[in-house]
Amino acid sequence: MQSKQELVALALSAGTLPGLPQGHFIDGASSTAASGRSMESFDPGRAAPFAVFARGDAGDVEAAVGSARRAFEQTWRDTPAAARGRILQRAAELIREETARLAVVESLDSGKPLAEAEGDVRGAARAFEYYAGACDKLQGDTFPLGPDYLGYSLHEPVGVAAQIIPWNFPISTAARGIAPALAAGCAVVAKPAEQTPFTALLLAELLKRAGLPDGVLNVVTGTGAEAGAPLVAHPGIDHVTFTGSVATGIGVMKAAADNVTRVVLELGGKSPVIVLADCDRKAALDGVMGAIFENAGQICSAGSRLIVERSLHDGFVEDLCRRAEALRLGHALREPQMGPVNSDTQLGRIAGFIDRARARGVDVATGGAETADPESGQGWFYRPTIVDDCAPDDELVREEIFGPVLTVQIAEDAQHALALANDSQYALVAGVYTADFAKAHRLAARLDAGQVYINEYFAGGIEVPFGGNKKSGFGREKGLEGLLSYCRTKSIAARI
Ligand code: NAI
Ligand code: MG
Repeated sequence: MQSKQELVALALSAGTLPGLPQGHFIDGASSTAASGRSMESFDPGRAAPFAVFARGDAGDVEAAVGSARRAFEQTWRDTPAAARGRILQRAAELIREETARLAVVESLDSGKPLAEAEGDVRGAARAFEYYAGACDKLQGDTFPLGPDYLGYSLHEPVGVAAQIIPWNFPISTAARGIAPALAAGCAVVAKPAEQTPFTALLLAELLKRAGLPDGVLNVVTGTGAEAGAPLVAHPGIDHVTFTGSVATGIGVMKAAADNVTRVVLELGGKSPVIVLADCDRKAALDGVMGAIFENAGQICSAGSRLIVERSLHDGFVEDLCRRAEALRLGHALREPQMGPVNSDTQLGRIAGFIDRARARGVDVATGGAETADPESGQGWFYRPTIVDDCAPDDELVREEIFGPVLTVQIAEDAQHALALANDSQYALVAGVYTADFAKAHRLAARLDAGQVYINEYFAGGIEVPFGGNKKSGFGREKGLEGLLSYCRTKSIAARI
């Protein structure tokens, strides 16, 4: 097995890595697209293609759903829970063994700094480990119907689950959906984003090595329109987990409605970080920086709206700007503090927000420009950007930018901060920094968000249910609640 250093050196000199999967993963084997077509994935740090993969369509989806259905009915749903758990546990071990390769591939494909990709791979291993242990604890209930009856319930697997995966957290989103689905006894067809197809394919190979029977996990690659749309509309799909944009999520929900297929939607966010004057200033600075500049701000739960108490504001924002200007940008594999954004399209979208803001007279405190990898002069980079003292109705405050752009709003006190925080069409997460724990928990009770982070943004892991309210979607992934979303309750009542 090659070391991380060897893989990085190879990827940087060759611009690619040998042995990347090129086909779909269907029925336990690699297969080319039925149409024979393929497409390229780009390395955002060089703005250049680095590998090709299968460009799937409805024909491939048909094969994958058929394979999943057979595997579900013939093997997986009747595989004892403890045996399922052992396979998932083995998968967690294999993911850990392969951390370097998975992380380097993830960095090349998505542009995220290698250290962040390694964190994502560790998170993926944790997802399999966590749900491995949950397989044989999926217990039903009994009902007190009296001595002449027997009443009980079972958590049945829902059937064949589709996973539509975005490009910002390819392996971790894949793992947090696939692991609980398999733990529940479901078979899966996953469709990774066309910008980042490779780690989902590698994950499928690892699961096969871990002992997963053929057909239980299938991966179809290709575009959303050509491969994603036929998957979510397929009548053989029993559940859809979708992570991505609001617009596409609405379309997925409509397509699923035609078959009355259940959906979990993890959509956008515009998450507030409330920083009160009594906070631990350094922890808050670190937290706000990570909340918006990790993964170049391309995180559904990014803390993109800083709401800071007036007495703290001036110095705090000055420090943030200084830190933002000092961030070292670069290719994902050169250990930067911030990497490129994922695509040309995304870069244009981010620049468009700032250009429109400037055109209406908004002042940009720092950043606000495209740039490049200082070493190569290549790549899709946008400078860490902060826009101070924004009006609550400004487009920058209202819309998800999905890039390294932080808006700042000034609050008079905690109540005002709460009102500003909840004034959004989104409600995914919220952060609070204060030394006053009672105040923090009172705010947490009133914040409209699926999860609230107190004094550490992004705190928590696979144990903690995750999902949104309002236009951020509904349903919860992660935690035991995430497992139950792949189950359906069957109640049995018998006269004895
Ligand atoms: P998207 O929502 O279109 O893509 C996400 C996934 O959905 C990809 O796998 C894509 O192939 C698939 N998809 C696209 N159309 C589909 C369809 N009709 N049926 C089934 N699957 C389909 O998002 P996109 O275009 O990549 O990014 C646009 C914006 O969405 C971003 O600027 C960002 O604001 C937001 N976004 C939010 C994410 C999140 O984590 N909540 C993740 C990715 C994007
Ligand atoms: Mg790519």
